[in-house]
Amino acid sequence: MSQQSDFPDDPTGSAEPDGYMLPANLRKEDHDRLNLQHEIWRTLLNGLCPVSKTELDDLLKPTAAVPIPAVLDVGCGSGIWCLDMAHAYPHAKVVGFDLTQCSPSFVQGSVLDGLGQFYGKFALVHWRTVLIHIAPDKQMWAIDELSEPGGLLIISDWDEIFVDEHRKRLPAAKDVPDDEAPSSWMARITNEIFKRDDPMDSILRFQIHNALQGNAVVDKESLRMSVYHIPVGWDGGDIENGETLGKMATIDFLDVSARFKLVFASRGVPANVIENWAHHLDSEIRGERQRIMSRPETEWRGTYSKEDMPESLFIDEIDHWYATAAAGWLHFSNPNRHRMNLARDESRLV
Ligand SMILES: C[S@@+](CC[C@H](N)C(=O)[O-])C[C@H]1O[C@@H](n2cnc3c(N)ncnc32)[C@H](O)[C@@H]1O
Repeated sequence: MSQQSDFPDDPTGSAEPDGYMLPANLRKEDHDRLNLQHEIWRTLLNGLCPVSKTELDDLLKPTAAVPIPAVLDVGCGSGIWCLDMAHAYPHAKVVGFDLTQCSPSFVQGSVLDGLGQFYGKFALVHWRTVLIHIAPDKQMWAIDELSEPGGLLIISDWDEIFVDEHRKRLPAAKDVPDDEAPSSWMARITNEIFKRDDPMDSILRFQIHNALQGNAVVDKESLRMSVYHIPVGWDGGDIENGETLGKMATIDFLDVSARFKLVFASRGVPANVIENWAHHLDSEIRGERQRIMSRPETEWRGTYSKEDMPESLFIDEIDHWYATAAAGWLHFSNPNRHRMNLARDESRLV
């Protein structure tokens, strides 16, 4: 019997027609979740970027050579980071780039087709939680490509592993556990989603590190990294803002779990298997099974070597992108509606 597609609007009937796991018709819906993740990042970083406000202000200061500094957000999702950056730096031009359309000044395309049109035009390039969606054999190439458009490159992603409350890595849970050792269903489901074995041999932050170290235009001395921990389903003990992070992460991961179900269904995984996984996952996310932490947050940043820095990072083309998409800003007349409402969403935790 032929199985009905879970994605009737997607002519391919597949969750991954262009390499991204969510089909196009579900991506807009997913923007609320991305906006919640944005709040998680803002809470962790105490701002929009891992660099200090002084450093950022200096980077985006208008000068005679670059009167209107430009910022590129690659894989911008809902565009909420672009929007917040544009509010924080109203004189700058912020451009979002993604497979899927979003409202702020925006260019549609895939990073896998190269970023040639952006080379040397941006003061800041931001790339957050996109690398994990790029096929492993293309990740190093993609990081090299990202180092071309601009001055400061910020890469942030999930570390793909889960740890216990003592920050010890948890192996992926098995359907039939072979001992009483702790394990994680989040790790298991993540492996299933990305079709890989456990323990997987790549941890993103090492990939990023190797790619930036091997990149000729990156000033190695400027590389920095921060790793954070997010409690899921509990308050994180001494973690700064742990209680808020724990609640936000719980809501986020429950939403991720709902998305996973759709992706598995589209791949033909039997419904009873999906329900069994979802049951285990749910109790782990809600902190009933054990205390877990997501250790996704890794930040790397590198700048061009001074001698390679383009003389002017701003060109007229950016004006064009900005102007064509400027009407999009009107859709954000009430930006708060895109934001997470913890009081509202918390009701889902009971
Ligand atoms: C998890 S979301 C992150 C969105 C945003 N960076 C944020 O942090 O809120 C991943 C985004 O990457 C985009 N994406 C995935 N593969 C891409 C590609 N090859 N080129 C451009 N964008 C891509 C997806 O469409 C999606 O919007």
